[in-house]
Amino acid sequence: MKAGLIGCGAIGREIAYAIDSQIPQLELFLVYDVEKKKANELVNKLKRKPRVGSDIQQVVTETDLTIEAASPKIVGELLTLAEKQGKDLMIMSIGGVLNHLELLNRIKKEGKCKIFFPSGAIAGVDGLNAAREKNIQSISITTSKPPRALLNAPYIIQNKIELENIKKPTLIFEGNCEEAIKAFPRNINVSATLSLAGVGMKKTKVKIIADPNITKNEHKIEVKGEFGEMEVVVRNVPSSINPKTSYLAALSAVATLRKMVSPVKIGT
Ligand SMILES: NC(=O)c1ccc[n+]([C@@H]2O[C@H](COP(=O)([O-])OP(=O)(O)OC[C@H]3O[C@@H](n4cnc5c(N)ncnc54)[C@H](O)[C@@H]3O)[C@@H](O)[C@H]2O)c1
Repeated sequence: MKAGLIGCGAIGREIAYAIDSQIPQLELFLVYDVEKKKANELVNKLKRKPRVGSDIQQVVTETDLTIEAASPKIVGELLTLAEKQGKDLMIMSIGGVLNHLELLNRIKKEGKCKIFFPSGAIAGVDGLNAAREKNIQSISITTSKPPRALLNAPYIIQNKIELENIKKPTLIFEGNCEEAIKAFPRNINVSATLSLAGVGMKKTKVKIIADPNITKNEHKIEVKGEFGEMEVVVRNVPSSINPKTSYLAALSAVATLRKMVSPVKIGT
């Protein structure tokens, strides 16, 4: 299968290295980045050399599977191209889908292409998928971050919250996912993944805690439903290339690709 990669940053690089050395069933045929230098640098580090693409459309047209690891801004265009050309797509900037839910639903109905959303920086999406087969009563996510990681969030600025004065774990926001995304846009991917896999933005509850005692971002997901109860906690190590990105997100992209080509799938 020919794959094309859009975005040669923290996640894109991890994906390219993994395909190159560990997933022989995939051929990385094209890589593209708005910063061409990054694409060239990546190609130089790979044993099986892909070509450097010139735009998004070329990547979709000339490959079987497009892997997006770039920006939420291009997700709408990619979904449109995938729908028109019947090409598969894996999306990391899942927050970008929220403005295109109608298109996503149409793609679901038409069934001409497949769209993959890796679990990214959270865990438990497998259990949530199973739980959703029956009634779900509640889903919530509590995200704890070191106070400095919340700097410049619109909610912090608007409410004049003095993060440097926080000396103990402090709940600073409580609302639904829709409100949380506006208040803390950096949480958008985690919120979008949980909402799309679960019960939607309005019914998913979010708490944000500023905790001066932690160094890693922590997500605690709680689900109650007909199946019983589930609690999942992830404490994420930041990517060494991009500290805003959790290393687990890049690994989840690689795991999704490996699952796509593997004849045996566990925990799907
Ligand atoms: N699903 C999740 O849980 C999750 C977790 C972390 C990051 N992400 C998202 O994944 C994406 C990639 O993350 P990252 O850490 O690798 O980011 P990064 O900033 O390290 O790399 C992004 C790369 O994409 C390139 N790029 C930006 N806009 C582009 C465009 N329009 N066309 C082509 N290339 C473009 C940049 O030049 C950069 O090289 C981001 O949108 C991020 O929000 C998702």
